[in-house]
Amino acid sequence: MIEIIKLKKWFTGSRVIHEDITLNLPTGKMTVIIGQSGEGKSLLLKQIIGLIKPSSGQILINKINITQAKQSERDAILKKCGYVFQFAALLDSLDIFQNIGITLLEAGKTPVEALPLVKQVIKSVNLPEHVLDKYPSELSGGMLKRAGLARTLLTNPEIIFYDEPTSGLDPITTRIIHELMASLQQQYNLTSVVISHDLDIFNYADYVALIANGRVQFFGEAKTIWQSDNPYIYQFIRGLTTGPLKNDSSQTA
Ligand SMILES: Nc1ncnc2c1ncn2[C@@H]1O[C@H](COP(=O)(O)OP(=O)(O)O)[C@@H](O)[C@H]1O
Ligand SMILES: [Mg+2]
Repeated sequence: MIEIIKLKKWFTGSRVIHEDITLNLPTGKMTVIIGQSGEGKSLLLKQIIGLIKPSSGQILINKINITQAKQSERDAILKKCGYVFQFAALLDSLDIFQNIGITLLEAGKTPVEALPLVKQVIKSVNLPEHVLDKYPSELSGGMLKRAGLARTLLTNPEIIFYDEPTSGLDPITTRIIHELMASLQQQYNLTSVVISHDLDIFNYADYVALIANGRVQFFGEAKTIWQSDNPYIYQFIRGLTTGPLKNDSSQTA
């Protein structure tokens, strides 16, 4: 369980971005975080994984308060976390094998030792073995996302964070990636936290949290959202330009 309690975040000289985020992300479930651009979804994720320190409030991962924990304790928790960022963030100068196996290679494993582990993980994401010799520029968008996912899975995460995992993909490839995320969720019994704008993800997620104006304005089961009369959810999922969500195109574009 990830517990976020009264989290507040501002940057010196800027507006308060998170007024009060209080949110539980249940173990073994997939929770999707939605909200308009600029509402601080990526920033929330960066605070959970310890890249950015909250201004106040607490974040507990498996009951350990990572905002106060000793470095060694925090490192142990964060080792269990994996991240899949918006753009697969593969290194152009490395081939796919080196990209996926990077953590093993950096930890001193030889390519011969890493290969069977890399082969195993690409099977989980349905990538054919012949891509291992290719470079990122030679792969399609969907394949790059799979490779990014494979690299993350290789670190055996218990919790996996996705920041807009399907951005830039066509609807069919998006669905294939969502199906893959759901099947990995089952197969590895993961806790998944997904930032997404893609409504198709609601077909696969357990819970949805909506962030607006620095607060969690909705938390509920994904299957209920199409019937929800929560005004934020109603506006967001229908793409309405009027409603309680901020309506300032200069800031949110
Ligand atoms: N390191 C930072 N320093 C200053 N401002 C930041 C920093 N990171 C994010 N912000 C600001 O926080 C707001 C939310 O950003 P972000 O989390 O990227 O939004 P979202 O992911 O919801 O689109 C933005 O206004 C952004 O400029
Ligand atoms: Mg973002």
